Amino acid sequence: MSTSSLLVAYRQPPEIFPMREADLDGIAALEARVETFPWTRALFADSLAAGHLAWVARQGSCLAGFLILMSGVEEAHLLNIAVAPEMQGHGYGAFLLQQAFTWATSQGARQMLLEVRPSNTAAITLYQRQGFTEIGRRKNYYPAAVGREDGLLFSRILVAEIQA
Ligand SMILES: CC(C)(COP(=O)(O)OP(=O)(O)OC[C@H]1O[C@@H](n2cnc3c(N)ncnc32)[C@H](O)[C@@H]1OP(=O)(O)O)[C@@H](O)C(=O)NCCC(=O)NCCS
Repeated sequence: MSTSSLLVAYRQPPEIFPMREADLDGIAALEARVETFPWTRALFADSLAAGHLAWVARQGSCLAGFLILMSGVEEAHLLNIAVAPEMQGHGYGAFLLQQAFTWATSQGARQMLLEVRPSNTAAITLYQRQGFTEIGRRKNYYPAAVGREDGLLFSRILVAEIQA
């Protein structure tokens, strides 16, 4: 397959599957490629054991990305999302989030919350494009190369999904 046809293929919506134990090595490897301070395999396993919503996005046989969401009373908390580097910029992150909005709304959530590093321009752009706004800052939330980095707290109201 040529590079151009690969790029076309990547623009198709991925298929979403529940994350399973057998996915964890691949998920942890993807995470390690995109994060300076990655979640460990054990953390992903803990998320599965805790019953968090955990999805794997696949494009054919390729692991395109994943999303992990914790469901609470009237709110859902996005714990992690990532897209494989070679598949970024083709709408997979937006697609995963939109599926999560629909699922969270169906569970009765009225807003979605998340934290993000102020330095993570790609993620902040994705979140803003998907209707999130900054509502606060958690001091020294993340480990950093030197000291700690604050976390920006973002929220997205889901009521519109209910009314749509
Ligand atoms: C953040 C991340 C999930 C985005 O996934 P993606 O599939 O590349 O995002 P999309 O292709 O759906 O892009 C969504 C929007 O963000 C924008 N965007 C994506 N990457 C960007 C970048 N590097 N710089 C600026 N904007 C960017 C896109 O332009 C798009 O906006 P548009 O709808 O106006 O075109 C991906 O970059 C990633 O895995 N990063 C590493 C892990 C991470 O940071 N996770 C978030 C932790 S809080």
